[in-house]
Amino acid sequence: MSSILIKNAEIVTMNDKEEIIYGDLYIVNDRIAEIGPNLNREADKVIDATGKTVIPGFIQTHIHLCQTLFRGQADDLELLDWLKQKIWPLEASHDEESIYYSAMLGIGELLQSGTTTVVDMETVNHTEYAFQAIAQSGIRALAGKVMMDKGDEVPVPLREVTSKSIQESVDLLEKWHSYDNGRIQYAFCPRFVVSCTEELLKNVRDLSAGYNVRVHTHASENASEILLVEREYGMRNVVYLDSIGLANDRLILAHCVWLDEQEKKIIKERGVKVSHCPGSNLKLASGVAEVPSLLEQQAFVSLGADGAPCNNNLDMFNEMRLAAIIQKPVHGPTAMNAQTVFRMATIGGAKAVGMEDEIGSLEKGKKADLAILNLNDFHVYPSFDIDTISRIVYSATRADVETTIGNGNILMENRKLKTVDKDIVLKEANTSIKRLIKRLETVVY
Ligand code: GUN
Ligand code: FE
Repeated sequence: MSSILIKNAEIVTMNDKEEIIYGDLYIVNDRIAEIGPNLNREADKVIDATGKTVIPGFIQTHIHLCQTLFRGQADDLELLDWLKQKIWPLEASHDEESIYYSAMLGIGELLQSGTTTVVDMETVNHTEYAFQAIAQSGIRALAGKVMMDKGDEVPVPLREVTSKSIQESVDLLEKWHSYDNGRIQYAFCPRFVVSCTEELLKNVRDLSAGYNVRVHTHASENASEILLVEREYGMRNVVYLDSIGLANDRLILAHCVWLDEQEKKIIKERGVKVSHCPGSNLKLASGVAEVPSLLEQQAFVSLGADGAPCNNNLDMFNEMRLAAIIQKPVHGPTAMNAQTVFRMATIGGAKAVGMEDEIGSLEKGKKADLAILNLNDFHVYPSFDIDTISRIVYSATRADVETTIGNGNILMENRKLKTVDKDIVLKEANTSIKRLIKRLETVVY
């Protein structure tokens, strides 16, 4: 048994009543054993959090760890050019080592900025090495290899045969789903409708039901993307997904910028989860998702940074701030307040992954996934009479995260990462991308 006692903190619980409690939080093994004032508990480790703020670890529902090495390699392009000219050739050039360090670089950034759970879409090949990085780092993840068995201008290493794509996905699932007491889960990741045959998508539908695992894909991110789908199937993108039975409560759709009313209705009625990626949607010039109307009809909306080459950070503080402020010019200043956005970043993400009984809030019995913030600095002051959630969403930055705990383990303490060796990962990231760029010259189409 191992135990941690966090003392004298301001605890932002995000429980049903969204209570903020002043006191202690006691962790036994991987779970929160108790929260309350003056807990008189012996613990292996005591953290004095006087003047600090404890929040649930952030849950990012759309991330590509395999793309972290491509940060800065693909600026200032729209989605389809970005994929064809830059991202697909780069992904095609990955090897086992570059996948591993790409994941470690991303996870280092995520843990350092308070994210403890990700929904991660890898590339076609070498996903085993991303799982190894996830396993070693202690981050919670629903991850899977991307599936793409269709499309033009796709480099040979990313062109999949349908049956092999499915078999490789199932093999990874069999190996990694439920690893470390459920800290790692598998999610099927068909890239987007444009990259997948109907046969593949229908197989994914059946496998997701059979194994009871999530399906994580991109949808209706970009105007040209939905035109391609309409031209091929004579239907809007989400209508098409529904027509083949994929639209259900296990489906996570990243982006959803271009939805009509019928598609929003499908999302609501089928319990589909939307991962809103405001930073990526702005940088790829995709548009602004109509999140206020999705929330008005009580659809499930959570947040994700997407990948490093379309953001260019994996920082939930950025995404929360953007999610709030981009809606205001059109929908008015109260459209997305700090509370709404913070809910999306925490308990909203937990609902997206079907783990609202386990993570997303700080409550007795839940997994101990949390971040300790130090909000005692110029950019977050004065604090007198200011709502804590407002301070976190509108003023705080990732540098204010002092300590991160995932699954009851201290993953960063006083800004020092425990499971990711920063010096090695930064050095190897540069070496890896340098080698990968050399391989880029020999990519075959
Ligand atoms: N659509 C299909 N693939 C991708 C990807 O890798 N990133 C984003 N943002 N959108 C996509
Ligand atoms: Fe993406």
